Amino acid sequence: MDLVVNVSRFFVCVADELGNNEIRQVTPPGLGPVAVYRVENAFYATDDICSHGQASLSEGEVDEDCVVECPWHGGTFDIRTGEALSFPCVLPVKVYPVSVEDGNVYLDLGAGEVKL
Ligand code: FES
Repeated sequence: MDLVVNVSRFFVCVADELGNNEIRQVTPPGLGPVAVYRVENAFYATDDICSHGQASLSEGEVDEDCVVECPWHGGTFDIRTGEALSFPCVLPVKVYPVSVEDGNVYLDLGAGEVKL
């Protein structure tokens, strides 16, 4: 029997667990790893894997301008848009909507189901 899970909304963490300029890696069912960022009091999410190589952006650094630096070769992305900002990164990373409700952070992945 297949197990079907509705992944339209994925719990990331309690908002206060993530400090400013911190990044957390999560892996929603059916997706690759996603990096969730807190900058000031806003939350953002992108694919965790850098578009240049296999580095994990959640192991990089994010600054107050919403720019994450990849830990491997120093390429950068705008975490609001996923746009690649500096060499050697050229291709964007995907971004995901994030919401905060009752002090909890969620990835909003859109309506859909994943068969496990
Ligand atoms: Fe990210 Fe090369 S793997 S800049």
